Amino acid sequence: MYGLVNRALQQLVCTHHGQRTWDSIRAKAGVADEVFVRMDSYPDEVTHRLVAAASEVLDTPADELLKAFGRNWVRYTMVEGYGALLSDLGPTLHDALAALNAMHARVALLYPALKPPSFRISGVTDDRISLHYHSERSGLAPMIIGLVEGLGERYALRVEVRHATAKGEGCDHDRFDIRILGRVDPVKDQPLA
Ligand code: HEM
Repeated sequence: MYGLVNRALQQLVCTHHGQRTWDSIRAKAGVADEVFVRMDSYPDEVTHRLVAAASEVLDTPADELLKAFGRNWVRYTMVEGYGALLSDLGPTLHDALAALNAMHARVALLYPALKPPSFRISGVTDDRISLHYHSERSGLAPMIIGLVEGLGERYALRVEVRHATAKGEGCDHDRFDIRILGRVDPVKDQPLA
């Protein structure tokens, strides 16, 4: 994955647990890079090893970390200068979920080696929507839950995200059933664990 992703993980850990903890995680993962270049592409293996090592060092399930990472991603990309892409997602959460492929297509103009996920929506009502997630990667489903929560936060909405169908259970993709529970004040900071 692009360095932008690994940088986001590094930033999240450093903010909540400090540089020393990150250095321990990096050492345990056997990752030599002290800095990730956001526009360089790194093997997915690097990200997976960092998440596994973070899970051990922080004594937190990897799924929880991926969820926290997803929640933080929307805010992180805004701070990193991708706010315009997020603003163009549209005025509602429904619009945003429907526009994720178009948004990643724009990201691919900047990051030519991007292997983006693919999304489709169904079952749309005022307060419900199903998100179908296709990827050549595996194991990232908890991250989608956090991503949708983080996106909801951007629209000042509290959402419930249920992982309704997992890839591999007779299905070639994951499905998430999303329910809008109500409006909230945007949260300033999210705990990592
Ligand atoms: C401006 C905001 C965003 C930017 C700049 C961005 C960019 C990226 C980048 C660079 C990757 C790494 C892919 C690779 O290296 O091959 C990625 C992956 C991913 N993005 Fe986005 N993204 C954004 C927002 C979102 C949002 C809002 C969602 C979903 C709600 C999302 C879902 C994903 C997922 C699930 C992956 C993992 C790849 C996979 O599943 O195969 N992204 N994105």
